Amino acid sequence: EKQGFSHFMAKEIFEQPQAIRATTSGRLPRAGEDDLGRGEPSFPELAELDVPALAARAKVTMLACGTSWHAALAGKYLFEQLARVPVEVDLASEFRYRQPIVRPGDLAVAISQSGETADTRAALMEARRLGATGLAICNVVDSSIAREADRVLYTHAGPEISVASTKAFTTQLAMLTLLAVHLGRRTGALTLERAAGLLDGLRELPVALDAVLGQAAAIEIIARRWRSARDWLYLGRGLAFPVALEGALKLKEISYVHAEGYACGEIKHGPIALVDERVPVVVLALEGPGYHKTLASLEEVRARGGKIIALASAGDRRIGDLADDVILVPQVDPYLQPILASVPLQLLAYHLARLEGRDVDQPRNLAKSVTVE
Ligand code: M6R
Repeated sequence: EKQGFSHFMAKEIFEQPQAIRATTSGRLPRAGEDDLGRGEPSFPELAELDVPALAARAKVTMLACGTSWHAALAGKYLFEQLARVPVEVDLASEFRYRQPIVRPGDLAVAISQSGETADTRAALMEARRLGATGLAICNVVDSSIAREADRVLYTHAGPEISVASTKAFTTQLAMLTLLAVHLGRRTGALTLERAAGLLDGLRELPVALDAVLGQAAAIEIIARRWRSARDWLYLGRGLAFPVALEGALKLKEISYVHAEGYACGEIKHGPIALVDERVPVVVLALEGPGYHKTLASLEEVRARGGKIIALASAGDRRIGDLADDVILVPQVDPYLQPILASVPLQLLAYHLARLEGRDVDQPRNLAKSVTVE
């Protein structure tokens, strides 16, 4: 059932073009849709939600754990920038114990692949008790969290067997992007033109993902080169920040190698002290609004002897001179980059764990779903 792959994780990484298609296809306007329809993703589940009131007088609270929490963090950037809806992001395990301020009219979005994570379920229940409408984003149909919520959006990623989440994460990102476009249309923050452009980008994303997957062998070579490193840093800015956190989690969870993700701007507030010539630093330097500032962070790391593995956009001619290794991904809209940029980091973690001889699909001390609080 691994369909020729040596691990479920590899199979699930390679399933991502198809999984993203499954998440998005039912929601995207049909090709040839009239002018008005082409910027409107379909969310009949949310017809009754008062979106202008949500934006003006209430807020979204996202609740999740682990990888799903990283998706939630990306969701905050997406919702706030594309829809101008205010968002808080909480670790589900913290939420109930910090006397959160949630009011009727708020929307609580619980994100969970399995739909069985006890902390996320309990946090959703608490948010609903306080008066919020509960929306679940789940992969597993009819799971506990799906049943607990007022509304459910399924990612349709298909079964994820490997403990390390891969396609579940990128499909959550795709769903959150669709949702941000939907909300942005309803608040008026997004023009029809801009919304249609983002939806076209989502429609074309599987092809770009195939191109990234085509680089798996090159990424394995990079993994071999750095396999003896015991500390890794992952740096990203803006939407690449949650991707950096996720890249670091992937590596530590399956290879047991220490890795940390940071926002680029934070490194000089502490973590740069870790940098020397034994520390590979994965820098997410895709073209877009934060590109030049990211390069400045890259230079700071380089000046301290850090070894740079850069993730950059195809066509970037500067990066080759600045980095020890470069992984290029196709150019896509900056709001769609997180989905694409996650994949090389999954492959890097996968190959490093495999080279270490780790039990990739069943890492020690971990369970696929954490059903105790
Ligand atoms: O099923 P969930 O999305 O609620 O799971 C949350 C976390 O336990 C999960 O994402 C965990 O961090 C993964 N093992 C990460 O790969």
